[in-house]
Amino acid sequence: MDKARRVADSLTTMTEMIFPNDTNTLGNLMGGNLMRMMDVVGAICAQKHSTRIVVTASVDNVSFKESIPLGSVVTLQAKVTRSFNSSMEVVIDVWAENIPAQEKVTTNKAFFTFVAVDQSGRPIDVPQAVPETEEEKLLFDGALRRRQLRLVLAGRMKPHEASELKSLFDHLE
Ligand SMILES: CC(C)(COP(=O)(O)OP(=O)(O)OC[C@H]1O[C@@H](n2cnc3c(N)ncnc32)[C@H](O)[C@@H]1OP(=O)(O)O)[C@@H](O)C(=O)NCCC(=O)NCCS
Repeated sequence: MDKARRVADSLTTMTEMIFPNDTNTLGNLMGGNLMRMMDVVGAICAQKHSTRIVVTASVDNVSFKESIPLGSVVTLQAKVTRSFNSSMEVVIDVWAENIPAQEKVTTNKAFFTFVAVDQSGRPIDVPQAVPETEEEKLLFDGALRRRQLRLVLAGRMKPHEASELKSLFDHLE
């Protein structure tokens, strides 16, 4: 496996303008189109970190608290928070701008998990991610807790194995 890589080395930014084909009947960006963009920017980021083919393993909660109107300029930024064995947690921040009005609104944030695979689709180990800024370190520290929660919810980890979540599940055992 390659040596560790800085989070900053795979930071990926994507900017798109919202056209009529991207919108719903209210003239706002369709949620599914936004999720597609998030998947693409996240996958590119995970590919850069791992230099491997990656597949989307899971998407955590995505909320749509602000609509994004036709003509908006949408920016998506993806960064690896932490890698484990073959999987990488990637956080994606999304904001929308009305450039003529000089307005900018944060619209979404979500955690995606990508898994690096070989040509046969088998998981393959990836480099560790090295956080440098305070924000990167906070995201790194929370990543194990989020991983355990999503694996428990996906039925891939037993609650009693989730060391970081012990207090949440104590009453179930
Ligand atoms: C993701 C996938 C490669 C996992 O394969 P698997 O045979 O279950 O492999 P493993 O059990 O060894 O798990 C591999 C990694 O995936 C992670 N993983 C598996 N399911 C996960 C889930 N639901 N959420 C988060 N991570 C998950 C595991 O935690 C493990 O991480 P680690 O190596 O860092 O410890 C496989 O399920 C797959 O190919 N899924 C389809 C992916 C795809 O097509 N995505 C697009 C959907 S349209």
